[in-house]
Amino acid sequence: MNKTLRKAIIAGNWKMNKTRPEAKALITDLIGLVKDADCGVVICVPYTNLETALELTAGTNIEVGAENCHWAKSGAFTGEISADMLAEMGVGYVVIGHSERRQYFGETDLTVNQRVRAALDAGLKVILCVGELEAQREFGITEEIVGMQTKVALQGVSEQELKRIIIAYEPVWAIGTGKTATSAQANEVNHYIRTVVAKLYNTAAADALTIQYGGSMNAGNADELLAQEDVDGGLIGGASLKAADFATIVKAASK
Ligand code: 13P
Repeated sequence: MNKTLRKAIIAGNWKMNKTRPEAKALITDLIGLVKDADCGVVICVPYTNLETALELTAGTNIEVGAENCHWAKSGAFTGEISADMLAEMGVGYVVIGHSERRQYFGETDLTVNQRVRAALDAGLKVILCVGELEAQREFGITEEIVGMQTKVALQGVSEQELKRIIIAYEPVWAIGTGKTATSAQANEVNHYIRTVVAKLYNTAAADALTIQYGGSMNAGNADELLAQEDVDGGLIGGASLKAADFATIVKAASK
């Protein structure tokens, strides 16, 4: 983290977990545990938990995000949720391009870009996920893949709008596997993403961009990952479902 240049942000991605009573219990515990955080704290929750999360976190330092949104403003898209619907509720953030969306729901770089555009137009902040598959890392094309995902996702995004974007580097092989990237690997790719953004915009814009790491980040390894210059926070899956673990990661980012 380099807190003089950019904001450190720890975001939980709950994925498809927690009923409303379970969400209520977790958030209630979390509020007390992270109230003195010296970093941004965001919880991205299933659509069914958004209202609960917004009500419980009102007046606290926890911000609320959704886990996806559609690119159209409205229409015949059964099962989808628009960015305007989220914004109207008071949701602040939305995760876009998560590898699980790419892997299981046919998300492509182009639809990621469309969703990013829709989210920005609705006034939301975006947590844009990029990351390579294990085979792509083995083939030595991590930079090409992550660079391409970043460039396509940011098509048509102005320098002013970039201020509402966080990029989360999530190597697919590290998600939910317990196999974390080493802090050096995380820093190397995060730094590479920053050079891509510097070329697309400029050095100042790239320096101000929060670039998180995600993939089996937990209470035990957060300190080391967050000590890296280019790791500006984390997007946390499994460990965000336990208040104490998530709070320990928030504490690590508060140093
Ligand atoms: P895990 O922390 O469970 O590996 O998940 C990471 C992730 O996908 C966050 O978006």
